[in-house]
Amino acid sequence: MQYGHFDNAKREYVIDRVDLPVSWTNYIGVGDMHGVFNHTAGGYLIYKSPEYHRITRFRPNGVPMDGPGHYVYLRDDESGDYWSVSWQPVGKPKEHFRCRHGLSYVTYESDYSAIAASQTLFVAMDDPVEIWDLRLRNDSGRERTLSVFSYLEFSFHQVDMDNRNFQMSLYAAGSRCVDGVIEHDLYYEQNGYQFFTSDFEPDGFDCLRDTFIGPYRTERDPLTVESGACQGSFEKGGNHCGCLKKTLTLAPGGEARLLFLLGEGGIEAGKAMREKYTAARADEDFARLAAFWDRKLACLQVETPNAGLDTELNIWNLYQSEINVMFSRFTSFIEVGGRVGLGYRDTAQDAMMVPHSNPAKCRSRLIELLRALTTAGYGLHLFEPRWFEPVREEPGFQSPTVVPVPDKSEIVHGIQDACADDALWLVSSVVQYIRETGDFAFADEVVTYADGGEGTVYEHLEHILDFSAREVGRSGVCKGLRADWNDCLNLGGGESAMVSFLHLWALGNFTALADRLGRGADAARYRDMAEAVRDTCRRVLWDGKWFIRGITADGRRIGTQRDEEGRVHMESNTWAVISGAADREQGLAAMDSVYEYLFTPYGLMLNAPCYTKADDGIGFVTRVYPGLKENGAIFSHPNPWAWVAEAMLGRGSRAMELYNALCPALQNDRIEIRQAEPYSYCQFVVGRDHTAFGRARHPFMTGSSGWAYYAATQYLLGIRPDFDALRVDPCVPADWREFSVTRQWRGARYEIRVLNPEGVEKGVRSLRVDGREMDALPPLPPGSVCRVEVVMG
Ligand code: GLC
Repeated sequence: MQYGHFDNAKREYVIDRVDLPVSWTNYIGVGDMHGVFNHTAGGYLIYKSPEYHRITRFRPNGVPMDGPGHYVYLRDDESGDYWSVSWQPVGKPKEHFRCRHGLSYVTYESDYSAIAASQTLFVAMDDPVEIWDLRLRNDSGRERTLSVFSYLEFSFHQVDMDNRNFQMSLYAAGSRCVDGVIEHDLYYEQNGYQFFTSDFEPDGFDCLRDTFIGPYRTERDPLTVESGACQGSFEKGGNHCGCLKKTLTLAPGGEARLLFLLGEGGIEAGKAMREKYTAARADEDFARLAAFWDRKLACLQVETPNAGLDTELNIWNLYQSEINVMFSRFTSFIEVGGRVGLGYRDTAQDAMMVPHSNPAKCRSRLIELLRALTTAGYGLHLFEPRWFEPVREEPGFQSPTVVPVPDKSEIVHGIQDACADDALWLVSSVVQYIRETGDFAFADEVVTYADGGEGTVYEHLEHILDFSAREVGRSGVCKGLRADWNDCLNLGGGESAMVSFLHLWALGNFTALADRLGRGADAARYRDMAEAVRDTCRRVLWDGKWFIRGITADGRRIGTQRDEEGRVHMESNTWAVISGAADREQGLAAMDSVYEYLFTPYGLMLNAPCYTKADDGIGFVTRVYPGLKENGAIFSHPNPWAWVAEAMLGRGSRAMELYNALCPALQNDRIEIRQAEPYSYCQFVVGRDHTAFGRARHPFMTGSSGWAYYAATQYLLGIRPDFDALRVDPCVPADWREFSVTRQWRGARYEIRVLNPEGVEKGVRSLRVDGREMDALPPLPPGSVCRVEVVMG
């Protein structure tokens, strides 16, 4: 069953049926001010920090769901009937409403009561100002008098202050309205102001939420809208809202356009922004926003026989990956700002995926991660970048409640809280960044360590590799420490096959860099280390048909042929191949086992059979319900590892089968099962052993997006940047005869056409750059364009 469709020409997903089974969200803003909004205008806006600077309030996991939001109510002043442009919160018959999710904007549309209305939410490009662009048209054939009411609920800025300790919070914020500008003021803070204004002279306002809503009512039937009259309420203390009212008379066919502006700053800032953001300027900013995404998307565009893959790579998959890099992971309807900062492993992986479209942000993320590395060589699992900034910027939140400022000894946790994989990801991310950009000097940049001292980026990477070489268990396999990538597979502190494979992968990337930088002695030393790791992996971790997942602290091997539960695991088998630990026979056998045990029509499950008996020697995974999350769900993030592994083994048809199973865009007609948005990868899809098999959960904030993008572009389509060349090494289904990729690399544009006359899955017979035979694509002067023809065979 479908609820909407992809409009690829406009780069929008159009929700035709708004009564979705769950909320479908999207992001607005591409800088300090950003927010998350669903298909009914529910959601919230933040400035810089989802913990300290929340602008509008959200009641997560609430009933009614997904509110409050940034709403526009329309009231027919003749009949008293009223509705909201975004369907909810009033909730008039659903057939009158639609939603368009675009790149960093959302448009809500309605045609209820023969009034065509649309409300677009987006953020200005140069100022922290959210624009609500409201358009109305009277399609009724008679004159209509309508009252327009905006509504938003202000937040007490800090997430805890917003959700508890109301004996303080309720007396800390005030509001007023001067010359058509509502001001919200968190009085504890020096600059704790927001404004809400409009490009018209309002004829009424309310700043007090409870006055607007009325006792024992909700946003569905607010007293102010029902009565049609604002009270002009404001006060020092209480809960505050942004309601501006305008009554309009529209002739038959008559149109109106109104802008509302929500921004940082008080009355004066509001007035200045109202001057600046005229309708013409709003149009200009909307066009600039489109151009912002044009530039990013133009870095890589594809045309293949797989429409789902095209939709993903050309639009949504890159968009999702960029959002993760830009905003990290803690602004959503699921993560609502109480847990913030950067997760070490998640950020290290996110930053690896989009250096072509966002090199500056990837680089700054890498620096933040490098600064949060300890001299011992492990990363701080969850940290705030500001802790390690040369000039420490404190968040702009002040309160009389004493919240002790942690000192460094508390910030730098010990090895007992370290995850064995965290920093290993960073090695490959740094190398990937250099391969993409050619910024070799980055390796020699000097960066501090979390616990004091400094060293070059290159030295940081050495610390990471040395740490993993040191922290091995009895069998010589890397210790799992608190956990590896799988938060729930703790092995009681035993040994993790996955971490040894990651170590080997990182070593491969690092030695390539050392070679390229001419540091032969280092390359030799780490090549020896890699040899030793490979030997251990082959000796200890192979179980005859696949690789085991690890060894518990008390010496039990996990993920063996003898196990009844947790027999086959995806992480260890995919990484055995990607790292090069597996020989070809082992790799084929391991990936066949993955297919046999883990494949479902919705993607690969993380492990099977699910655990049903609690076993703390293995870890929390045995206490997770079977089929959910880490216990046998189709955890999306590792699925692309399997595509990479299959591509490395040369099995393009299999790789694409796995790709298609997870591909959100190909699930658009299965929403009764999937439930979640088909334009976003989700953290997991419920696995086979659960009654909700196939249901997807937790959109946007997931490493699956970046990995899907990386795996599909670099291993399936096979366009891979290297230090001195752009390589073309596709692995595609045998029935693909042709595809093309336009790729920008180091300022030049490569128009690549790949032909597959013999229907092979891998192998390049010839490669021509502007007619000249070559092995790979050389760097070209910035601004140049070349045509590349590749023949597989
Ligand atoms: C969540 C975490 C991620 C972890 C994964 C598997 O997605 O954010 O860090 O790797 O779960 O446990």
